[in-house]
Amino acid sequence: DIKCTMAPESRFDCARDRLLSQGECEQRGCCYVPLPKSAGLPWCFYPSLYPGYKMGPFSPTTRGRAANLTRATPSYLPRDISTLHLEIIEETAGCLHLTVSIQDYRYEVKLPAGVPQNKADPTQDVLYTTEYQSDPFGFIVRRKSNGRVIMNTTVAPLLFADQYLQLSTSLASSLVSGLGEHYTSLLLDLNWTSVTLWNRDMAPHADANLYGSHPFYIVQEEDGLAHGVFLLNSNAIEVMLQPTPALTLVAIGGILDLYVFLGPDPESVIRQYLQVIGYPMMPPYWSLGFHLCRWGYTTTNTTRHVAQRMHNSKFPMDVQWNDLDYAAKRRVFTFDPWRFGDLPEMVEEFHERGMKYILILDPGISSTSPPGTYPPFDDGLKRDVFIKNATGHILIGEVWPGSTAFPDFTNPETRHWWEDCITDFHSKVPVDGLWIDMNEPASFVQGSVEGCPDSDLENPPYTPTGVVGGQLNSGTLCMSAQQKLSTHYNLHNMYGLTEAYATHSALRKVRGKRPFVLSRSSYPGIGRFSGVWTGDVRSDWEQLRYSIPAVLQFSLFGVPLVGADICGFGGNTTEELCVRWMQLGAFYPFMRNHNDKPNAPQEPYVFGQKAQAAMRSVLNLRYSLLPFLYTLFHHVHATADTVARPLFVEFPTDPNSQTIDRQFLWGSSLLISPVLEQGAVELAAYLPPGTWYSLHNVSRTDVLKLKHLISSFSRVFFDLPFLVKEPALTTIASRRNPFFLTVALSAGGWARGDLFWDDGDSLDTFEMGNYCYVIFIAGQVGKRQVIFALGKLTRLYNDDILQISVFVPKNQTVLSAGLCVCPLPQVLTVTSLALPMTKVFTVQWAL
Ligand code: GLC
Repeated sequence: DIKCTMAPESRFDCARDRLLSQGECEQRGCCYVPLPKSAGLPWCFYPSLYPGYKMGPFSPTTRGRAANLTRATPSYLPRDISTLHLEIIEETAGCLHLTVSIQDYRYEVKLPAGVPQNKADPTQDVLYTTEYQSDPFGFIVRRKSNGRVIMNTTVAPLLFADQYLQLSTSLASSLVSGLGEHYTSLLLDLNWTSVTLWNRDMAPHADANLYGSHPFYIVQEEDGLAHGVFLLNSNAIEVMLQPTPALTLVAIGGILDLYVFLGPDPESVIRQYLQVIGYPMMPPYWSLGFHLCRWGYTTTNTTRHVAQRMHNSKFPMDVQWNDLDYAAKRRVFTFDPWRFGDLPEMVEEFHERGMKYILILDPGISSTSPPGTYPPFDDGLKRDVFIKNATGHILIGEVWPGSTAFPDFTNPETRHWWEDCITDFHSKVPVDGLWIDMNEPASFVQGSVEGCPDSDLENPPYTPTGVVGGQLNSGTLCMSAQQKLSTHYNLHNMYGLTEAYATHSALRKVRGKRPFVLSRSSYPGIGRFSGVWTGDVRSDWEQLRYSIPAVLQFSLFGVPLVGADICGFGGNTTEELCVRWMQLGAFYPFMRNHNDKPNAPQEPYVFGQKAQAAMRSVLNLRYSLLPFLYTLFHHVHATADTVARPLFVEFPTDPNSQTIDRQFLWGSSLLISPVLEQGAVELAAYLPPGTWYSLHNVSRTDVLKLKHLISSFSRVFFDLPFLVKEPALTTIASRRNPFFLTVALSAGGWARGDLFWDDGDSLDTFEMGNYCYVIFIAGQVGKRQVIFALGKLTRLYNDDILQISVFVPKNQTVLSAGLCVCPLPQVLTVTSLALPMTKVFTVQWAL
């Protein structure tokens, strides 16, 4: 006799895979109790101790311990697997690894290029304990320090069939973030919602599966602690969230490969996650400058003209882009002889002016050019690099150039062919980076031009309910398509990742410099190779607001180089929206203004003088902050920090910071509070605990002197001042300006900051020691305030000098600074000092 009396919110759906009548439900041994007002609540649900797998005894393995899970009676799912293999591995003190697989071969994810194992912490003092329920099988993970339950999978049965894997767990709190890529707030809605992870060419909107898949979530616990869970699985995934709080993971293939990260703080959770998927790459310095793009720069002369007008209007800008317009008949690795005939010359001109150039590269290779006229396709055929359909012929889909074949980047030969194509193109057009778009991969026909065969891969027993278009092959390739490593059904979500890896490797080889790649589709680990942008956002205020959680999610996913299309991609922007978007976008780690073909122009120079001044000043502010931003990127690359940081990550014990996603930080101390509402001239911004200074209060003259703002000590609060200053128009030029150090003292009169500096472009400078690293410390020694620098710059940067400005807390007055006290009461500026950066120095003044 079964127990069906649990509270409605504690029900776990027994009819996830399809709608059931009462009879069908009861046949499954589940409870059927209809509810009157029940949006999302299941009527058919598992009773407690619903029969499932039974766990055998543990035995040791080389990496941990293992046990068999067996089920005596089949489940209700087709092609149920009755014997499973559970392995428990204590990877590090903070990372517990559980896998549920089978004895026979079954597809499992392999991340490209392996991941350098970074197992610094010993496993003796693990932060977790585990308990097991043997029949029906379930496990509990607790935080050792306080006994808190982090996961409890005994709440519902484990299911494991060929095309349906399901695991439910309770959650330690309702503060859950992650599970991208979706158009959501930073905290997910647990009120009977579900999210689908299936890479899809889809303009961002609510409840849709978007371009990337990241099966990772982070939970903020009550007391400022945090943990994370990662399901390493590349099949289509659906996650059901319910208010108990609890969630259910469903993957329709692969194995259950679960990592639990115990933190104990949010930043450590992210670091532990990145130890599994890989630390992000170090971007080139120039790529942190401003990028300008649109679809519709139809000739080289138009493109030149745009860059020239930016220059004439004195807008800092590093990189000019071209969209599909450059390519002959939209075929990649070609350029149009009439409209872009002098593309190589144009790129050289940009280079001479200290600028960079990037163009778009879609993966689809046109398959209809006459034989012998389009080498990428001809060579690709010969070298057998394209994805095949179920019958072994090249699968043809349709993208911008018409019919196209799709390179299979899981095949090493494809990566060589891709590198050859890039090498050849680069020898004509010396691009500085590549923009890899449409790589979900997107296709304008469903599956292929011939459709897809009828099979369990195309129409699996269960398709996640949220999949846009209702079918996995909607907007992409057939699921039965064959790639070197497996079927497209298994590899789909990794297409962009494998392309990013191939493109990054090719650029590294061809240019011998740090690669820049920007990808639309993403999967865990892509931050090692590429940045990401958030796709085809609409030019409206809601999309402006949602771009903040979108960017912050990628910080959690180990993709620090991320931004949304500034001023919006779809539809016409307005002057006010575009100003506000530039002001926010100046604080996206990756800053690009990009626009769709039919829309009104939105380059900064097309707007009125006031708007231009606002855009110019915020661009100048970004350029002055680049050494600080670059240093943050160094920390991400070296120690898996975050650049754009959610408030809860920095202030985990501050309850007010838990939900905020209209403000964010750069690193630990720069708080950005952008205007996000139409017509707003005031802003209510939250200040977390600490001493904060507003850059708004800095005098104009003082800001004019900001050339290179290295570090903000303590906390500095930016609310997007409208500033004016003569800019350096590229990063190459701005790097020649003196450094300007801003010190913001805490209430206790101390501060700390640092600078990572190298040539900005060479490969592996950190790994090879070709860099400088300086720590600045300010504190009180007796009655004197002292700033000193530790570490020094090498002779490479001999002519760098340093100017200093100090923010002083309200309760302190500066009596004499020896040199100059700025008229503002709260800012002491040491102006006439020009410190050589090659020397260790101290600066003192009396309080
Ligand atoms: C896709 C991209 C967009 C690009 C367009 C044309 O929609 O997301 O950024 O401009 O294709 O290449």
